[in-house]
Parts: sequence; structure tokens; C-alpha cells
Amino acid sequence: MTDETEQGGPADAGGANGTARAPSRRSVIGWGGAGLALGAAVAGGTTLALRATDSPEPAGSAGAAVPFHGAHQAGIATAVPDRLHFAAFDVTTENRAELIQLLKDWTAAASLMTEGRAVGEGAFGGVPEAPPDDTGEAAGLKPSRLTLTIGFGPSLFTGDAKARQDRFGLAKRRPGALVDLPKFPGDNLDPARSGGDLCVQACADDPQVAVHAIRNLARIGFGRIAIRWSQLGFGKTSSTTPDAQTPRNLFGFKDGTRNVAGTDTAALDRHVWVSADAGPDWMAGGSYLVARRIAMRIESWDRTSLQEQEDVFGRDKGEGAPVGKAREHDEPFLKSMLPASHVRLAHPDSNGGARMLRRGYSYTDGTDGLGRLDAGLFFLAYQHDVREAFIPVQRSLSRSDALNEYIQHVGSAVFAVPPGVRDKDDWWGRGLFS
Ligand code: HEM
Repeated sequence: MTDETEQGGPADAGGANGTARAPSRRSVIGWGGAGLALGAAVAGGTTLALRATDSPEPAGSAGAAVPFHGAHQAGIATAVPDRLHFAAFDVTTENRAELIQLLKDWTAAASLMTEGRAVGEGAFGGVPEAPPDDTGEAAGLKPSRLTLTIGFGPSLFTGDAKARQDRFGLAKRRPGALVDLPKFPGDNLDPARSGGDLCVQACADDPQVAVHAIRNLARIGFGRIAIRWSQLGFGKTSSTTPDAQTPRNLFGFKDGTRNVAGTDTAALDRHVWVSADAGPDWMAGGSYLVARRIAMRIESWDRTSLQEQEDVFGRDKGEGAPVGKAREHDEPFLKSMLPASHVRLAHPDSNGGARMLRRGYSYTDGTDGLGRLDAGLFFLAYQHDVREAFIPVQRSLSRSDALNEYIQHVGSAVFAVPPGVRDKDDWWGRGLFS
């Protein structure tokens, strides 16, 4: 997180979601001052306003805005900021038109919030008799590279959990690749932390900006959706910018060394984006997201010898070099690693070439009542088809990975992530409902 690339430099803030950099806030609004809440651009029927203490943000700085519009949604190949608020929602309305209106309202609000602007008429100065349109806690904060990425869960296509009826007439539009994940050996999944009709991934440099975004989307959806579960994350455990310093996970190892880079368009096209001929049409340019809450047994790990820790991964702890090699980015020689080592099992050569773009986060949610940290990895991985990437890789890891002694998968969800919102007339999921 220290170099220019990771801070939202030219390679980051624009481009990776297939769009040119958005105009700075100054050029968007033609206004260079700070202070007053300015009411009132109107988009998609929603009245929009600036945050009360907005000031223009120089492009390329840590607080820069990431373009919301583009061929792909931001928050996948774009640089990974350090904070996450992820939420899965149940759709509570049974009315298709209400769901469509919700997605339009969310798109309008998301587009504003990613620019560092408030929702509706803002948090203050509106009608005294009504609750403010924006909750206000992000007033005066920078856009902070906020990205908001939406996904549609299998249950959206099949109806509610009880009746399984086709609530929204979407059953025939369910992508073949949006399969329910199988149960893997060792899974101990909590239904209260799994599944969801919709998800929104909010990533930002400032946790308050990410939380504000999810909170306002939940508030806008009141009566139409309800939060099913959510997850806060810190300290990204993978990056999409391999030239930057590789982050470390809670086991102290560099994580993301061999991740798909956000600038590697050939790898993104092959492994991450859904191609036009893969079908269905509405998913072209989208991706599939697997989210897994993986508890890490920190206390056991901390009592494990350094040698065993390094054997578990097949990399050394300091440099992150693969066994027998000197540098982190040296090509691993898999046969020199133990057969059960994580990297050997997860490597594309052990999985028919399968790759995925990982952008998970560490989490700690207090203690478990027995004096142990409730901590782990909130694993997020994007791929063009879960049947070709996450499922086979996890099948192999769940059977044999030496890491299994120290981890347990406790939450799980899968989502179809549609392509990007093209322009201000487009909205999240328009292709699905057309
Ligand atoms: C708490 C659980 C996990 C931890 C602590 C962890 C940690 C690591 C570390 C330290 C590396 C080596 C550095 C790198 O190339 O990124 C790695 C590699 C990798 N992991 Fe994990 N991982 C976890 C779970 C998973 C899961 C569930 C999957 C997928 C099903 C996965 C897939 C991969 C892949 C594909 C690689 C790259 C292998 C290569 O190309 O060499 N990991 N992981």
C-alpha cells in the first residue's frame, strides 16, 4: 500500500474495469469550493447532492475516485484497497417491478457514492420533517477508491427458500455456471453466514466510506430487501497489482504472489471475464464470485514451528520464495514441495490450468468465548466459471491440503456478477431483466 500504483495511480483508478478514468469531482460538477451542500443533479429519478464538505480530489491521490461506469464492474480487476464491507441480501419483495426499481435506485446511489458524493438531497439541509436522504457519516471524506460490485445469487433465480417458486420469472435466465457449490470435506458452514439473493462488495481505503455505502444501500432498499449477513474485512490478502508489495495474511505469509494481475488482459479474458460465447448474453463481460468465510486457528498456528509453517505453504515466510528458489516471483518447482502443500495443490499445473482472481480480506470478529481469536480469511475469488476453477481447486484442497489442520470453512456463497454499468442510462442487472 505504499507505492503510487497501489494508491490509485494511473494503472489503478481507471482502466481495469474497461473504462477511461472518470472526470475529477471538480470537472463533474464544475465547482471548486468546499462547504455548502449543493442540491440537485437528477439521475434515474433520484435527486442527487454533493456531500456537505466536499472538496475536489486531485487525480491519482490516495483518496481518488475509481470510475463506476465501464465494460466490467469495478472492484474485480481494479486495485484492491485495504478495507472491505461485504453484504449479502435477501429480496423480501415478491414483486419484479419493485426489484427492478431497487436495482435502478441502487445504481444511481452507487454511482454517486463512488464519486464521493452523497445520496439524494444529502445528509443535512433537507426537509426537517423527513429523515435525511443520506446517513451523513461519509460527509467530508474522500471517495477513497470506493468500488461497489453487485452479484446475483442462485436463490434469486429459483424463488424463496420456503416455496422455491420462480418469484421474479428468472428461472430460465439462470446461467449454467451459477451452480450451487457442493459440500466439500471439512465444511462446517453456518447457514446464517451463507447464501443470499444479492450481494454488494464495497472496497475502499477508508472503512467508514465502505460501511457508509452498504448502510445507505440497505436503507434505500428498506421494505424490498433485508441484510442476510455481512462481513467486514481489513488488510487485503491478495492484490491485483503484482508490482506493489505483496500483502500478508494472518498466518504471516505473503498472499497473492501468483494472483491474476489487473493489468493482464489476456489472463483476465481467459480466466475471469465471461466471454460472449459462453452465455447467457446478459453475463458477457461479467464474472462469478465465490465468497468463503474461512476461520483460521491462529493459536495453533502460532505454536507451530517455522519449518512446518513453510512446509504447509511450500514457500518461505520471509521472502515468500517457493521451496528451493531464492525470490518471491521465481517460478515454483512443484515437485520440490510436499505433496500436501497448499501452493502445490492450488497451482494451475495441478488443476488443468485453472486460475482465479483472488481478492480476499482478513477479518477478526472478537473472540470465541474460549479465549481464542475469532479470525480468518474472507476469501473472495472471481472467475469465468466456478465449475472450472473454484470447485476443482477446492475439491483438491479440501481433501489433501496441509493447511486444513489450521483452517475451517464456516460460510459460503456464490454469485453471478453481471458486466459493468455502461453509462448513466444503464443500471445494475439491466440485461438480466430485459
Ligand atoms: C485461510 C485459507 C487460505 C490461506 C491462508 C491461503 C494462503 C495462500 C498463500 C500464502 C499462497 C501463496 C502465495 C500466492 O501465490 O498467493 C496461496 C496461494 C494460492 N491459493 Fe491460497 N490460501 C487459502 C485458501 C485458499 C482457497 C480456499 C483457495 C481456492 C480454492 C486458494 C487458492 C490459491 C491459489 C490458486 C494460489 C496460487 C497458487 C499458485 O499459482 O502458485 N487458497 N494461498
